[in-house]
Amino acid sequence: MIGPVLTGRRLLFVTGKGGVGKTTVAAGLALMLAEQGKTVLACEIDAKGDLSAAYEIPPVGFDPVKVTSSLSVMAMDTEASLREYLRLNLKIPIMGRIGPLAAAFDFVATAAPGVREILTVGKICWEVRERHYDVVVVDAPASGHIISQLAAPDAIAELVRIGPIRNQSQWMAEILNNPQATGVVVATTAEEMPIAETIELTQRLEQETSVEVAGIVVNRVLPERFGPREAAAFAALNSDTHRAWIDEHLPEGAPAVLEATRLATQLRRHRSRHLDVLRREMDPSVPLYYLPELFTRAEGLRMTRQVATHLAEELG
Ligand SMILES: Nc1ncnc2c1ncn2[C@@H]1O[C@H](COP(=O)(O)OP(=O)(O)OP(=O)(O)O)[C@@H](O)[C@H]1O
Ligand SMILES: [Mg+2]
Repeated sequence: MIGPVLTGRRLLFVTGKGGVGKTTVAAGLALMLAEQGKTVLACEIDAKGDLSAAYEIPPVGFDPVKVTSSLSVMAMDTEASLREYLRLNLKIPIMGRIGPLAAAFDFVATAAPGVREILTVGKICWEVRERHYDVVVVDAPASGHIISQLAAPDAIAELVRIGPIRNQSQWMAEILNNPQATGVVVATTAEEMPIAETIELTQRLEQETSVEVAGIVVNRVLPERFGPREAAAFAALNSDTHRAWIDEHLPEGAPAVLEATRLATQLRRHRSRHLDVLRREMDPSVPLYYLPELFTRAEGLRMTRQVATHLAEELG
């Protein structure tokens, strides 16, 4: 079953292969939703500080920081999440670091699979359940790790049959597994490895979790400057007959320019071939969105604003 359009959901996880633009897409998506009048929490999982850099603010911690009146940013911290959980559920106020408990927590979290994941996904689901924000956008970890996070509540519910832990994992699973509420956005580029990973990830999400893929964002799409007619003209100009004339009559840099146009055409052709593979392998009900290569030196907020504008056009 496919839920509402991407923008109609309340919890969006942006994932994909390393370096394809997860943070860029998550930052732009959160800004776009905030500009549409929603209150938005953007949450970074790996705490590298890239998400705050996308908004040009200093690295954030577990406590959300406002970027605009409707957009807040936070970074996940599993120990802080545990502290908050204990304070809210057991009414145990814990000031500062947990001290010896932190070491015990580290031990448990390392030894027991799913503990770190449940604290991460639990905090996110709790923000959604409490309706502190209209939408939560997660700059999620790369492909492999997201599966264990999204499957954690189901896995724990299966292990623990009764009691408070089961109840906790149950309401989380209800949020995650409800396509009206939650969706995964897979970011990719039109290259061989990212596309292969996208196909594998969507299959694994379907087999190993009950979370729905809300859309694929194909990032860094090259503009179609040259049609078949121009491509034929470049080929002719690059042929031996014309090259001799060009070398003789045109400025010294001309052959390099021609070479660059040939490469651009070739690159685009390769990318469109990879995109064909993606379209063929994907469930046709999963929408594909396109984000162009931004040929600017823009970094930070300027780039995030451009991404938000492009996404707004794409997502309608
Ligand atoms: N559409 C685009 N046009 C130009 N540059 C882009 C575009 N999208 C992303 N980039 C650049 O590519 C780099 C990687 O992007 P980003 O950090 O968003 O990827 P990521 O998937 O979050 O990486 P990681 O796996 O390391 O977290 C950044 O320098 C970013 O500015
Ligand atoms: Mg990132």
